[in-house]
Amino acid sequence: MFSTFPLILKPTPCHRLERASEALGIDLWIKRDDLTGFALGGNKGRKLEYLIQAALDEGADTIVTCGARQSNFVRQLAAACAIAELRCVAAVMDQPYEPGHQVPQVQFTGRGNEVLSDLFGAKIVRFENGSWEDLFARAADLAESERQSGHVVHHLAVGGSGALGAYAFFVAADEAPHHDVLITASSSGSTHAGLHIAFRDFPNQVIGIACDPEEDLRNEIARVGADLCAILGQEPPSPDEYDLRSDYVGPGYGVPSEAGEEALQWLAHQEGILLDPVYSAKAFSAVLDLARRGELEDQTVLFWHTGGVPALFAYR
Ligand SMILES: Cc1ncc(COP(=O)(O)O)c(C=O)c1O
Repeated sequence: MFSTFPLILKPTPCHRLERASEALGIDLWIKRDDLTGFALGGNKGRKLEYLIQAALDEGADTIVTCGARQSNFVRQLAAACAIAELRCVAAVMDQPYEPGHQVPQVQFTGRGNEVLSDLFGAKIVRFENGSWEDLFARAADLAESERQSGHVVHHLAVGGSGALGAYAFFVAADEAPHHDVLITASSSGSTHAGLHIAFRDFPNQVIGIACDPEEDLRNEIARVGADLCAILGQEPPSPDEYDLRSDYVGPGYGVPSEAGEEALQWLAHQEGILLDPVYSAKAFSAVLDLARRGELEDQTVLFWHTGGVPALFAYR
């Protein structure tokens, strides 16, 4: 339906977690989008195959976006831009927050994704912490100043979310093996929306684990889902149709949670597989919790690993 700029190795690996399945008494599988073979992996590679092609089709020479200082999206976008010979400009804040959800400041080492975005040649413009709305406004200002300097700018939403980002995951659902329940991290919404819409006519349950405390997250995911449905010619799901669990966020966006830390160590020890503290560890803490509470009994569970591992090297 849409042409792509190839970036990742597809299908990504998918395998049973033998030791973890035995320990939890469930049939647990993992989809390895941490192993895309592109810029140290992660769920953004799939979205960027569509987004970069759209930018090239528009004749852009510069992509402007924004994110948290340890953004996995900015890292993968920077790599994609390097390959596509586009300039990459990103507005970043240490920890953007939702108004009313300002969180304890995390001490970063200044490494992790930051080093990699730099290595891929992105122009990173850092701002004092503020709300997400403040960050979006800074990115809009940057885009405007790039235009004023004569560049043809393509402005990408945070996390590459939108119809095309969700479409990438709608298509990715074809790579999923048989499962009863799919669990994945959810933040800017396109991963969750794309997978939910792909499986909505099947009995498979898709559970998104919110990594962001924002009250409006469900509506934002539904908006992204509606944009995807507009291009698919389908009725959009209502916000309530999405199974979004908000009880695993912990202290806030970008702040590791106790349960996430336990999940990260647990999976590292059981399977030698790494998670990241901001997204995938929180999502996997839900797998542990639901399994221990008996809610996944007799179910084949697919954990969709969305990557983010470089952030491990930025959090103390
Ligand atoms: C590692 C990782 N997992 C999950 C997500 C959430 O994906 P989405 O933005 O599509 O909701 C992100 C987004 O930044 C991410 O970097």
